[in-house]
Amino acid sequence: MAAVIRTSGLTKNYGGTVGLTGLDLEVTAGTVFGCLGPNGAGKTTLLRLLVGLLHPSQGRAEVLGIDVAHDPDEVHRRVGYLPGDFRAYPDLTGEEYLRFLGDLRGGVDAATVEELAERLKLDLSRRIGALSHGNRQKVGIVQAFMHDPPVLILDEPTSGLDPLMQREFLELVRGARADDRTILLSSHILTEVEAVADVVGILRQGRMVTVDSVEDLKARALRRIDLTFGHEPPMAVLAATPGVRELRADGRRAHLVVVGSTADLVAALAPYRVEDLVSHDADLEEIFLAHYAEEG
Ligand SMILES: Nc1ncnc2c1ncn2[C@@H]1O[C@H](COP(=O)(O)OP(=O)(O)OP(=O)(O)O)[C@@H](O)[C@H]1O
Ligand SMILES: [Mg+2]
Repeated sequence: MAAVIRTSGLTKNYGGTVGLTGLDLEVTAGTVFGCLGPNGAGKTTLLRLLVGLLHPSQGRAEVLGIDVAHDPDEVHRRVGYLPGDFRAYPDLTGEEYLRFLGDLRGGVDAATVEELAERLKLDLSRRIGALSHGNRQKVGIVQAFMHDPPVLILDEPTSGLDPLMQREFLELVRGARADDRTILLSSHILTEVEAVADVVGILRQGRMVTVDSVEDLKARALRRIDLTFGHEPPMAVLAATPGVRELRADGRRAHLVVVGSTADLVAALAPYRVEDLVSHDADLEEIFLAHYAEEG
């Protein structure tokens, strides 16, 4: 399959600070690529390089076969981009702003804009300056999707969205993928990336430390689980369950960490009376640790 996004040796230094180092990346058509990484890892730097808002210090980036540094305008026309710090003219209403942007892009179907706004429950008649943070973010999402671009590059798209709207956004992404569009998004939220991405890349200090399918990442993820039993926790059984680590009892409670699938744990618990089960999302740090542990 053809690579829609391709970088080779892509590097960005800000004076003495490393933004991104020697990145070789290929994202094929119809793929959702989720970019994870802690603050300052280089996610925004990568996304801005891909849309030509930054010039690489070394290496190159191609989108749809276009060299971004060579022809940024052509890339802009073909890509829907949501910046991490999306801002719009506060004095315009959502409708006015989106019409203005649409005209710049050579006309956008008003029905598409309306449908997007409706799905995201965004009131286009309000002044952007009067919108809440989450509602302003929705304007940013609509402008990225409204011209049906073949490529979407979205920097922390769900920042500020409530859980229902996050879910609606993920539906938008799934719809775009079903139409064979290519999506690269950055996020801090692993569950969100898991829910929608085919491939996940983890950036750390400007380097892509791992690129994996979501299944492979999940198989390595750690999850912290708290169990409350109606009786003493069956510690010997838990200790013998595959994938269980860091097991510790606390009265009728057991705290543990599961590596990968929880299927074995669930099966092992079947004969017991579990009154409560709390599962904490694997956080990025834990994913990193799992990654390094595997590398030995
Ligand atoms: N304009 C700039 N001038 C100098 N350094 C910069 C600039 N932009 C980014 N950096 C540095 O580049 C590195 C990567 O930053 P970047 O914004 O790409 O990270 P990020 O992964 O998007 O982080 P976050 O999760 O906080 O959004 C950081 O060390 C940052 O301080
Ligand atoms: Mg960022």
